[in-house]
Amino acid sequence: MRGHNKNTSSGGGGNRRPAILHLVCVAAFFSLFVFFIQSSLFAGSKTSDLNNREEIRILSNFQSSVQQCVANRGLGLTAHITDHCKLTLKFPQGTNSTWYNAQFKIYEPLEYHYDVCDSILLWEQYRNMTTVLTREYLDARPDGWLDYAAKRIAQLGTDKCYNKTLCEEHLNLILPAKPPFRPRQFQTCAVVGNSGDLLKTEFGEEIDSHDAVIRDNEAPVNQKYAKHVGIKRDFRLVVRGAARNMVKILNGSCLLAAADEVLIIKSVTHRDFNAMIKSIPNPVYLFQGIVLRRGAKGTGMKSVELALSMCDIVDIYGFTVDPGYTEWTRYFSTPRKGHNPLQGRAYYQLLECLGVIRIHSPMRAQRKQDWSDVPSREMINTAHAAALRLKRGLSDPSALGEFGSCKVWGNVEPDNEGPMSGASDMSDVRKNSNYNKWEITPFESLRKEARDHYLQMEGVSLYKMDGNKLDDLVCVRHSSKSVA
Ligand SMILES: *[C@@H]1O[C@H](CO)[C@@H](O)[C@H](O)[C@H]1NC(C)=O
Ligand SMILES: *[C@@H]1O[C@H](CO)[C@@H](O)[C@H](O)[C@H]1NC(C)=O
Ligand SMILES: *[C@@H]1O[C@H](CO)[C@@H](O)[C@H](O)[C@H]1NC(C)=O
Ligand SMILES: *[C@@H]1O[C@H](CO)[C@@H](O)[C@H](O)[C@H]1NC(C)=O
Repeated sequence: MRGHNKNTSSGGGGNRRPAILHLVCVAAFFSLFVFFIQSSLFAGSKTSDLNNREEIRILSNFQSSVQQCVANRGLGLTAHITDHCKLTLKFPQGTNSTWYNAQFKIYEPLEYHYDVCDSILLWEQYRNMTTVLTREYLDARPDGWLDYAAKRIAQLGTDKCYNKTLCEEHLNLILPAKPPFRPRQFQTCAVVGNSGDLLKTEFGEEIDSHDAVIRDNEAPVNQKYAKHVGIKRDFRLVVRGAARNMVKILNGSCLLAAADEVLIIKSVTHRDFNAMIKSIPNPVYLFQGIVLRRGAKGTGMKSVELALSMCDIVDIYGFTVDPGYTEWTRYFSTPRKGHNPLQGRAYYQLLECLGVIRIHSPMRAQRKQDWSDVPSREMINTAHAAALRLKRGLSDPSALGEFGSCKVWGNVEPDNEGPMSGASDMSDVRKNSNYNKWEITPFESLRKEARDHYLQMEGVSLYKMDGNKLDDLVCVRHSSKSVA
């Protein structure tokens, strides 16, 4: 917490001492002051230069590993290092850029520039984040109810929640008091996209062997596609349009398994959704951390963010990451027009070489599953720490540590936690369902890694304020009594 100590000194009253003495004192004080400032500045810059050299050395080594990883795994992509942070990924000469951006009247470029220092800070941060919208987040965030909640409800009728009760009526059903899932809850997760690529391989069993499987929108899960996409279902990230068809989507698949699937609405809820949500047994939440008003770009990335907020290892399947793509296809329907295939491919490759995801695709299917050329966890942690020190500067040691990015703090007392998920008007179909399969996972039954993390974080949940900004976290402290 930061104190505000304004107005501690008051203006001097009538001073009757000889003016000359006064002046001497002021002059002496002033030169002492200047001397102090100069020497501390000088010492400060000297140490930080020395230390920065060490950070730069660590990050330069890391860049080389990333470069080698791209050379080994990039299917023709190459990485070109500019400095200890900047890196360019290039497609090979002669690559046909087939996607035409009508807005800017250009074909997709063959080169993409990245700041690896920022990327590693951002994506490692997701491992500690909560990505489900909760009541504690809305309560802690200053504009949480009035502004932010209003943006998550379509057709509210007003631009802000002037009437909080009304907004609560819209959100209660999908608003748990605290995070229903925890960082490090699973060891392995599969994120399954919808690409037609999936039909070229038989990854079904491999996908099902993960601790949790995350799917997308209306992707069907049934015997017809089982050998390609698996049958296990745990999470499904849906946009508003797909949420509207939820009953049909769930009904189109194996019903028993579908009942446990957690649905997370990516964009906004709608006043008409509540009746539908009450009729299905599935847990339903809103995604937290969506960049509002930025269109569909980076939809697959949200699934990766969700996965990272719960899983140590994130394997992705069914994203169009192989060279030669001319159109977007889906495994269960006819092709539709694609967008930014080269940009996406380059970025996914960067993420693989930053240890964020592991890519599975037809062109990689025949290869032995060998991840030894991806930088190790230890190396990533070292590079992350160096990037963090470099970014924060050494002048403010308190800015390091787990809570250095917390901008807004909230506190929750256990007696004050409220119902988990809109329990107050939960319908019978939900009460008798496995709705609580996840939410009541007792602390002692969690993986050791998840428990250790919770204790190390002193029971604080971290949320992004908006999108991809690193330094704007909302941090909510739970009283230690609420562990059990
Ligand atoms: C690019 O397109 C041209 C003309 O369609 C074709 O001849 C060439 O093989 C393509 N190159 C690649 C790398 O696909
Ligand atoms: C706020 O909304 C609730 C629920 O719709 C309604 O009962 C109440 O009258 C509203 N309050 C005001 C001041 O409009
Ligand atoms: C779900 O599917 C069954 C048949 O498989 C059908 O009888 C029922 O009407 C469907 N329900 C909805 C809500 O679509
Ligand atoms: C994430 O949490 C771990 C504790 O499990 C902590 O050591 C680490 O500093 C945190 N990383 C970030 C980026 O907040």
